[in-house]
Amino acid sequence: MRAGVPGSSSAVRVVLLGSGELGREVAIEAMRLGCEVVAVDRYANAPAMQVAHRSHVVTPMTDGAKLRAVLEEERARPHAELLVVPEIEAIATDELVKLEAEGLRVIPTARAARLTMDREGIRRFAAEELGLETSPYRFCDTFEEVEAAVAALGAPCVMKPVMSSSGKGQSVIRTPDDAKKSWDYAQSAGRTGAGRVIVEGFVHFDYEITQLTVRHGNGTSFCAPIGHVQVDGDYRESWQPHPVAPAVREKIQKMAMQITDGLGGTGIFGVEVFVAGDDVLFSEVSPRPHDTGMVTMVSQQLSEFALHVRAILGLDVPAGDIPVLRPGASAVLLAEGENEAPIVEGLDEALAVDSTVEVRVFGKPDARRNRRMGVALATADDVERARELAKRAASELRVV
Ligand SMILES: Nc1ncnc2c1ncn2[C@@H]1O[C@H](COP(=O)(O)OP(=O)(O)OP(=O)(O)O)[C@@H](O)[C@H]1O
Ligand SMILES: [Mg+2]
Repeated sequence: MRAGVPGSSSAVRVVLLGSGELGREVAIEAMRLGCEVVAVDRYANAPAMQVAHRSHVVTPMTDGAKLRAVLEEERARPHAELLVVPEIEAIATDELVKLEAEGLRVIPTARAARLTMDREGIRRFAAEELGLETSPYRFCDTFEEVEAAVAALGAPCVMKPVMSSSGKGQSVIRTPDDAKKSWDYAQSAGRTGAGRVIVEGFVHFDYEITQLTVRHGNGTSFCAPIGHVQVDGDYRESWQPHPVAPAVREKIQKMAMQITDGLGGTGIFGVEVFVAGDDVLFSEVSPRPHDTGMVTMVSQQLSEFALHVRAILGLDVPAGDIPVLRPGASAVLLAEGENEAPIVEGLDEALAVDSTVEVRVFGKPDARRNRRMGVALATADDVERARELAKRAASELRVV
């Protein structure tokens, strides 16, 4: 790769589709290598837009015609190279498939973006085409189908809208009587309105792991396993490395290799797996940096964002297992209520918790209950201590 000058005909232009906190870190890493960054999202002043060279608002991001118009405008501007880098799932992926066929480069591939856009595409691909072990599942369009699914899979089970992320619309059906409540909740909270759900057998896992996996010019590299805690389907804490027995580690890497080879292209992937005893079950995969991977901003020399940018630009990525510099942890800051132009308080107190503490404030223009507004990061000699520090630091922060 040759670096160019942003805003000129030599620009290496990165167009981010989705401009949240993960996109913002990708933008910063891309800029460090001289790229021009264009941030796109459904609302103005999104986190990555605040650091990008330019931005576009496309509402909704699933509108194929609007997304095409913006990408064609960007393609028409002088540049040396152009990469379209999806950061969220809910975008017009069918249009991306067409644009890719017309020569646009989509990271990692338009097909990967389309398959992972909803839970059905990726689950059927992983379980039915690749034969990866997953929880038992059924897709349902009506409450009657849900009742049949719960009867077949048995309670407890988990219901999720096929189009949702961060646990939205997700709930556990503990007994068959919960099914109606879960269905109503899923129908009210899905990302693109009411619709199809997946019902999955509940996995009694010992722990869950995000296996960050980088596909690059010289092969595939693996980050150390990231452990995490989820509440209501959304991540609260993560840490790296999570101790994993060598045999299980091997199974996780094999599974990560299969799914990422299946999706193809270059870049980082967050492969989510459940571990129960020696068994590894595939849960889902992000063909992009993963929220639980924010810990790598302190635990690795090259964060997941830096690795992603290196891989997509065709630059060298360390081969094999990417080492942990120091055990690290992240703990999220959630908003409690709704307000515009919110303020994050307690930074001094959070940073005073330990000299290793770092805070990222995302700058989201408005807060709503449980929206992720920032993250506290810390390192220590062991993950337990790092977790304690990150949690303490996060507990000093408030959104008002
Ligand atoms: N079948 C299951 N059995 C037990 N727990 C589950 C199951 N499915 C999901 N979970 C729990 O819910 C969490 C969120 O589920 P999942 O990753 O499918 O949702 P998501 O909305 O895509 O989340 P995100 O976008 O944050 O990755 C999982 O990390 C896990 O803790
Ligand atoms: Mg997930």
